[in-house]
Amino acid sequence: MTTTGSSTGTEEHQAQDVILDVDTGCDDALAVLYALRSPRLNLRAITCVNGNVDVDTVVCNTLRVLDAAGAPHLPVARGAARPLVEPPHDARHVHGTDGLGDLPIPGSTRTADPRHAVELMRDIVATSPRPVTLILLAPQTNAALFARMYPEVFARLGRIVMMAGSGCGGNATPTAEFNVHADPEAAHIVLNTRVPTLMYGLDVYYQTQVDPGTVEALRTSHLPTAQLAGLLLHERYRRAGRASLGDAGAVAAASDPRGLTTTPFPVGVELSGTWCRGTTVVDRRGPGRRDAASSTSPSTVEVAHGIDGPHYTALFRDTLLGQPVHAAAPSKRPRSEPVHGGSAR
Ligand code: BDR
Ligand code: CA
Repeated sequence: MTTTGSSTGTEEHQAQDVILDVDTGCDDALAVLYALRSPRLNLRAITCVNGNVDVDTVVCNTLRVLDAAGAPHLPVARGAARPLVEPPHDARHVHGTDGLGDLPIPGSTRTADPRHAVELMRDIVATSPRPVTLILLAPQTNAALFARMYPEVFARLGRIVMMAGSGCGGNATPTAEFNVHADPEAAHIVLNTRVPTLMYGLDVYYQTQVDPGTVEALRTSHLPTAQLAGLLLHERYRRAGRASLGDAGAVAAASDPRGLTTTPFPVGVELSGTWCRGTTVVDRRGPGRRDAASSTSPSTVEVAHGIDGPHYTALFRDTLLGQPVHAAAPSKRPRSEPVHGGSAR
């Protein structure tokens, strides 16, 4: 059944507890800034993993972003330094040598949590009185290790929201999206855990384009979070000639399902193959046509395939600028055309 997200009406009263798993990354940084400011989210921790850059740089970047944003104390933990099977492949060609666009963002005075990312996730999920949403914005190595090491605790997750995969072609390769391609085995493990999952992949990822006026409004704001978001978006414009919210779109969608159209499909990950390793195979055949032998996966995930980009860019802007966000209703015509763009992550 295809669903266009609706508001439950509860999110304004009770913020969702979330953990962000990141490979910061310019668009991961935007996601962190949004999560810090959103009244719909209660950011419990940030866990770091190898991806866009090596994990030590990811930790350093995440702490820099928190400092620049003037964020309150928040646990940040170092996780996996490499994928489960393959050697690491970074994305410095997209995010700059330091992963944050080589911008003049000062070093941080904060220190990382002494726990491994997986231990931090375990501690939070095991003791939380409310279900926790795990938002994956990077290769899924930490989450896969969590699922394998503490399956009973992992099963307590309320849901997973993942910026990962694609049903419409790739960016890391012609068919594979970066976060899945970087650690296909990890994505395979996570997609088969049966925790309710929303896949926010390339079908919608590029469709939250931010206009130059919004970038300027953010850059010239007196609020440190907005200023940093403006700086990062400006840099994305400079590098790619356009700037989407990227990972921040997935977090915005996690906070507000209005504007996202999803359908439950089995999703498998190609783990071998000459050209297609790391490709997510979305089984769009109707249930009557799927037999166990030919289905890509025994579990189904909600695959996002339609998005109202302007709804989410407005939500992002208003959240970062501290304006009332309940006014941000979806625009009339959802933009659901798939965009095949390889270089503007
Ligand atoms: C994903 O790849 C990374 O470079 C971005 O941060 C995003 O998480 C998009 O394919
Ligand atoms: Ca990322």
